[in-house]
Amino acid sequence: MVFPEYRGRRLRRNETLRALVRETTISPAQLIYPLFVMPGKNVREEVPSMPGVFRMSVDQLAKEAKECMGLGVNNVILFGLPAKKDARGSGAYANDGIIQQAIKELKNKAPEMMVSTDVCLCEYTDHGHCGILINEQVDNDSTLELLAKTALSHAQAGADMVAPSDMMDGRVAEIRAILDENNFEMLPIMSYAVKYASAFYGPFRDAAECAPQQGDRKAYQMDPANVREAMREAAMDVDEGADILMVKPAMAYLDIISHLRDEFDLPIAAYHVSGEYAMIKAAAANGWIDGDKVMYESLLSIRRAGADTIITYFAKDMARLLRG
Ligand code: PBG
Repeated sequence: MVFPEYRGRRLRRNETLRALVRETTISPAQLIYPLFVMPGKNVREEVPSMPGVFRMSVDQLAKEAKECMGLGVNNVILFGLPAKKDARGSGAYANDGIIQQAIKELKNKAPEMMVSTDVCLCEYTDHGHCGILINEQVDNDSTLELLAKTALSHAQAGADMVAPSDMMDGRVAEIRAILDENNFEMLPIMSYAVKYASAFYGPFRDAAECAPQQGDRKAYQMDPANVREAMREAAMDVDEGADILMVKPAMAYLDIISHLRDEFDLPIAAYHVSGEYAMIKAAAANGWIDGDKVMYESLLSIRRAGADTIITYFAKDMARLLRG
């Protein structure tokens, strides 16, 4: 294959040819759109650091879901802002909690929408950490029970999939066990298996009001320097019964997605997080980049690295772009 016998440019000559040999595609069916749910009525407020993303009250959800489904985006993941926070994050597992209400509303008014839920305590604790504090440390084993209760309450409210994002050791097994005991053996777990202690979560923490009041999350989320550890985390979650493995964030961790793809045969999800979204939106708003093209190239690269599924605030924008 030496020039001039091989000419790579032959298959790049026009869009029809390029489309014929394109190795990677994106479809709205592969995207999950995050929704932030808050108390109140008729509330729909834009997150300042995430233009185009809104926090909304429960009554607004059905309309939003229908808009998504009209674009072919049939998956959402819910995040909640409770009316009150406390030390044990009780709003996370309250039967009438904000997420439990949101699930019921969606399953009632837009039953075709696949509703996944984020299972974590950080939005519900007054200290903002993802578990219970004992001597100012997040205590792993006593947090597990509350995470399991949270997952079960989501299932009972009608959730289609639960996604634990807390990074406690052993939580997938604990959640699988409580779900199975309660006849939810068919409910899948999408585990945030490989979640790094990342600065890219900044805008999300504003949106969900869940920044830790003290310290950081480095004692439970992973060190961005590590790749072998990512493989151990993923292997553990496979053993514990995860159905989908997630890598988070996405673009700075494409190598991790690719390693996981090679090593595991479970579906892989990647979370294109708030900071990744905000950077593109900000640069585009300044006219420094073409926002749509950078969005497409970013999501395409995440797929190319090996993700089957992408959780992204761009889900609706991307679906619109694909529709043309
Ligand atoms: C909750 C959670 C976070 C995100 C998803 N679930 C925040 C965090 O871990 O600090 C971040 C999502 C994003 O940045 O878009 N633990």
